[in-house]
Amino acid sequence: MSHFWKPGAEKPRIVDDEEGGVLFLSTAASSSSSSGFGYGGMEKQRQRLPVYKYRTAILYLVETHATSIIVGETGSGKTTQIPQYLKEAGWADGGRVIACTQPRRLAVQSVAARVAEEMGVKLGEEVGYTIRFEDLTNTFLVMTAENFHVLAAQNTTMIKFLTDGVLLREMMDDPLLTKYSVIMVDEAHERSISTDILLGLLKKIQRRRPELRLIISSATIEAKSMSAFFQASKRRRGLEGEELGPRMEPAILSVENYSSFLQEPMGDILVFLTGQDDIDTAVKLLNEEAQSNGKKSSGLIVLPLYSGLSRAEQELIFTPTPRGKRKVVISTNIAETSLTLEEPMGDILVFLTGQDDIDTAVKLLNEEAQSNGKKSSGLIVLPLYSGLSRAEQELIFTPTPRGKRKVVISTNIAETSLTLEISDIENLVVAPISKASARQRAGRAGRVRPGKCYRLYTEEYFVNEMSAEGIPEMQRSNLVSCVIQLKALGIDNILGFDWPASPSPEAMIRALEVLYSLGVLDDDAKLTSPAGFQVAEIPLEPMISKMILSSNELGCSEEILTIAAILSVQGDHVTFLNVYKGFLQSGKSSQWCHKNHKKVIEIRGQLRRIAQRLGMVLKSCEGDMKAVRKAVTAGFFANACRLEAFSHSGMYKTVRGSQEVYIHPSSVLFRVNPKWVIFHSLVSTDRQYMRNVISIDPSWLREAAPHFYQHQPHNAIGH
Ligand code: CDP
Ligand code: MG
Repeated sequence: MSHFWKPGAEKPRIVDDEEGGVLFLSTAASSSSSSGFGYGGMEKQRQRLPVYKYRTAILYLVETHATSIIVGETGSGKTTQIPQYLKEAGWADGGRVIACTQPRRLAVQSVAARVAEEMGVKLGEEVGYTIRFEDLTNTFLVMTAENFHVLAAQNTTMIKFLTDGVLLREMMDDPLLTKYSVIMVDEAHERSISTDILLGLLKKIQRRRPELRLIISSATIEAKSMSAFFQASKRRRGLEGEELGPRMEPAILSVENYSSFLQEPMGDILVFLTGQDDIDTAVKLLNEEAQSNGKKSSGLIVLPLYSGLSRAEQELIFTPTPRGKRKVVISTNIAETSLTLEEPMGDILVFLTGQDDIDTAVKLLNEEAQSNGKKSSGLIVLPLYSGLSRAEQELIFTPTPRGKRKVVISTNIAETSLTLEISDIENLVVAPISKASARQRAGRAGRVRPGKCYRLYTEEYFVNEMSAEGIPEMQRSNLVSCVIQLKALGIDNILGFDWPASPSPEAMIRALEVLYSLGVLDDDAKLTSPAGFQVAEIPLEPMISKMILSSNELGCSEEILTIAAILSVQGDHVTFLNVYKGFLQSGKSSQWCHKNHKKVIEIRGQLRRIAQRLGMVLKSCEGDMKAVRKAVTAGFFANACRLEAFSHSGMYKTVRGSQEVYIHPSSVLFRVNPKWVIFHSLVSTDRQYMRNVISIDPSWLREAAPHFYQHQPHNAIGH
């Protein structure tokens, strides 16, 4: 296959690394024509991205290597451009699909929308996306008009963005992922649990399907360790022992960023000098300098300011600075009192640790803006965390009106990590970020124009104490969801699985134990039939799936499906409160309700169909909340807590593990403090707070999970 490689075209130079095996590739750097983002056609904009210079090199590597590792700073164009290059080179011909995975749902949606826009196509056709419960791709059957005879199943979607979790699920139906020609695993440096599993499985698939190309891309990947992970695959050989197909050792390409991202932020400059003569000299020098440098400093508008100037000359300093220019006002002390210059406008992105901090910050900023009147009303303050509704999250993408600045206050808690909030307290410990994420965060600003990054820690801390890379999520998180997925894919020896970063045996055992207690795994750690297979079939965390299955016997499946749908759209009470708040803010608009509940209704519909497929009877318990609470217990028994007998502060301890937890103030059970509760998730701020709390009868715990609680001292459960 050489549909793009034209003999005679500039061939990239491949240099063998001394350590052997790893390939570094460098292209002769073509003339640097980058002059920042101006206005111009979409195509021009695309060509200005740093990755564009590597287009040929990337296509060459993908052609010749089974796995290519592409490293480049945020904003260099990896995510939006590489899938398009692949499509242009023919990798989506013949109904094949180019996949690009993202750890977060939000990124999937925004990147797909961007690429569709660049290609001038409708989202959902040539370019589409799939996230859990939402498939915006076009796979349909082509029929002839005369006889409705099916000619061919045709994927019109050529580039598909999806979460790693969705791609893992697709493997359950199509273990070799046959419709994909290239799979780009993006943002690999985030090392999310599903990215790691995905990499392990893709490596296996590649042994069976050597024609499948993998691209692993990231901002700050440890390229060599990733390369070493893929090193093991052997190249296919023909009958004579000759090597066939692409080279199996991974290639590494590092995209250097030549663009204007590193420029200083724009904004006006005010210089104070002592007297009129000095000022005139400075203005003259600067103007001469600008002229002799040609373009380079012609962005400066140099203006003198002193009392001897005419009124008209003085007022020049108040004219708005044109886009792309900076005013330099050189002044005597008269400017000290009377002059304020334009601050550079631009949006602001702030990272905080948790939802509570974010809500507080948003509130404080809004109050501040109100009390200051006009002065800071230029700010549009928006929170961003996974508990928000889709509509609320999308607000951050609306263009900022002229004269305003958007301030986005965000966590790093991604939607994909929502499952990790469950029953594993360790995950929510607030920890310092790594250098890699610090760089990544800085990269989030300055994508469309130069930006500034303020870090609230010392350089010394950054240099000496901050760890280089985040700990791969794999090594620190609850594995429950992942283990069941691997089991369903027929991978029984989880400990022997080829992970990029092996999870700790303790975490693994904990996960197996929970699954065993859920009745999903049997004594031989194999999926039980039918429960285990059914739980694996439902695209939700195993605890929620178990809750749904139990509701069948308890006669409350309709209610539990609603709870499951709401939990999977959002996650917690706070969100429900936000929903209510949003409803009030919208002036109790029915349209608002419709938009925000549509998703819940849609997901509920999908869950209902899955439940029916599994042979469940759909039935309402008609208000018998005991049945509902029992069903919740059947899934979430591991999150049971007991109120400390002499605690007036509302302190609970988890039955297993005795960890200190409190009911979140937003819960309806806050201050009610029932003796026994089960929570759905924990949020860590100054304390560990339980969200989505339900009161239970302790006897249900032994009923639901006899194994899990068998070694508890007698007084720990019931009396
Ligand atoms: O993946 P990487 O961080 O290397 O870059 P990218 O996401 O492909 O972004 C390349 C450029 O596309 C950015 O600098 C933005 O100007 C633009 N972009 C956008 O406008 N909207 C998006 N949703 C994503 C990217
Ligand atoms: Mg990207």
